[in-house]
Amino acid sequence: MQQEKKLIINYQMCEYSSLSPDDRELVDKAMKMTEASYAPYSNFHVGAAVRLESGVIVGGCNQENAVYPAGLCAERVAVFSSQAQYPNTKILSLAISARNTEGEFVTVPVSPCGSCRQVILEQEMRFNQPIRILLVGQNGVFIFNSIRDLLPFAFSEESLGS
Ligand code: THU
Repeated sequence: MQQEKKLIINYQMCEYSSLSPDDRELVDKAMKMTEASYAPYSNFHVGAAVRLESGVIVGGCNQENAVYPAGLCAERVAVFSSQAQYPNTKILSLAISARNTEGEFVTVPVSPCGSCRQVILEQEMRFNQPIRILLVGQNGVFIFNSIRDLLPFAFSEESLGS
């Protein structure tokens, strides 16, 4: 017997002006980080910012390389950098912003790539702390309550034992 299943993903869409002060600060940092992006090959400038449990914000931006796969996305730069500087500190939220090849902030928010989603999930599981994801576009901010909403059927450490 075959059964049809449906997956529902919940997220909120919010105007920048109605973000909480904390979220606005995080989004501002992600937007600012696009200016530090090193993206001479794609000219696509991505900024990310994570908020730690301590309240500290750590930024990151994409870092490209002539050997393309050697580069790294903004999200992973921010997440790895936060854990390098503040090991064992929970990540509460992550904001992502991007400017297109014209230098304008994207209208439709950029969403993290598969590898970044897996890296964010690792932090979420490690600390048993859902990480809120804020995707920033000119038309508004998409807010997900957990990276799991962006990575259904994820592979995880738990899968090894099953
Ligand atoms: N990029 C990110 O940094 N984050 C994303 O979520 C999507 C893509 C970077 C990788 C590369 O430097 C450039 O954007 C174009 O793909």
